[in-house]
Amino acid sequence: MTDTEPRPTALITGGNRGLGLETGRQLVAKGYRTILTARNAADGKAAAKTIGADFRPLDVTDPVSIAALADSLAADGVRLDVLVNNAAVALDGFNADVARRTIDANVYGPLRVTDALLPLVADGGTVVMVSSGVGELSGMPAPLRQRFAAAGIGRDDVLGLVEDFVEAVAQGRYREAGWPGSAYRVSKVALNALTRILAAELAPRRIKVNAVCPGWVRTRMGGRSASREVDEGARSIVWAATLGPDGPTGGFFRDGRRIAW
Ligand SMILES: NC(=O)c1ccc[n+]([C@@H]2O[C@H](COP(=O)([O-])OP(=O)(O)OC[C@H]3O[C@@H](n4cnc5c(N)ncnc54)[C@H](OP(=O)(O)O)[C@@H]3O)[C@@H](O)[C@H]2O)c1
Repeated sequence: MTDTEPRPTALITGGNRGLGLETGRQLVAKGYRTILTARNAADGKAAAKTIGADFRPLDVTDPVSIAALADSLAADGVRLDVLVNNAAVALDGFNADVARRTIDANVYGPLRVTDALLPLVADGGTVVMVSSGVGELSGMPAPLRQRFAAAGIGRDDVLGLVEDFVEAVAQGRYREAGWPGSAYRVSKVALNALTRILAAELAPRRIKVNAVCPGWVRTRMGGRSASREVDEGARSIVWAATLGPDGPTGGFFRDGRRIAW
C-alpha cells in the first residue's frame, strides 16, 4: 500500500477484546481503516481508542442492531473491503438454552451480519469467518458428516440441520440423533458449511469467503492454559483478511495453510 492509495476499510465483530481486538490492532498496523464493533458500547469505544480504530455498536444476535449498523454505515458512505465475523460465544453447560444461544450467536449471527453488510462490501472484497478446528467434520459421526458435506447443500439445509440439533437437545434425544454434546462444536461445523455456500454465492462478485481457525489462544474463551498468544492467533485471521485478488475462496485455514473441513 502506498501513501497515495486510498486506505482499505475493515470491519470486525466482537472487537472489544480477545482475537477481535488484536485482529483490529494488526489491521490498523497494516494501514487499514478499521471499524471495531461490540455489543457493549463503552467497552467497544475504549478498545477502539487503544488501537486507533473507529467504533460502531453491534450485537450480532439482534437483527435490529444489525440493521442499524448497516444503515449507519450506508448513511456515512462506508465501503467495506474486509468483513471479519469474529464474535462468538462458548457457553458453559449443555442444555436447550445453551444450544439455542450458541447457534444464535455463532451461526445466525455471522450469516445475518454478512447478508446485511454485503451491499456495502466492495466487489473483490473479503469475508472471514472465525471458526475453530473443533468444527472439523472429521470429528462428526458419519451420517451427520454426509449431511453437512452433501453436494448441493444450501443455506436452508444448514439452518434446518442446526434447528434439528436444538430441537434434539430440547427433547433429550441428541445422542440418538447422532449429534455431539457440544453446541459450540455444532455451531462451527455449521459455520464452515455456510462459508462454502457463501463463497459459491459470492463468486460472481469476486468476494472471497474463507473460514479460519486461530488455534488454541489465550483469551477469555481459550483460557490461560491455551498454547498460543493472542497475536499469533490473530495473524491467522489477518492472513485471510488481507488475501490478494488471486487468493483462495471457500477454504478453511490455519496459519495460512489449508486444513480439512
Ligand atoms: N480462543 C480460542 O482458543 C479460540 C479457538 C478457536 C476459535 N476461536 C474463535 O475466535 C473468535 C474470538 O474468540 P476469542 O477467543 O477472542 O473469545 P473472547 O475473548 O471470549 O471474545 C469473544 C468476543 O465476541 C463478542 N461477542 C459475543 N457475543 C456477542 C454478540 N452477541 N454480539 C457481539 N459481540 C459478541 C464478545 O463480546 P463481549 O465482551 O460483549 O462478551 C467478545 O468481544 C470466536 O469466533 C471463537 O470461536 C477462539
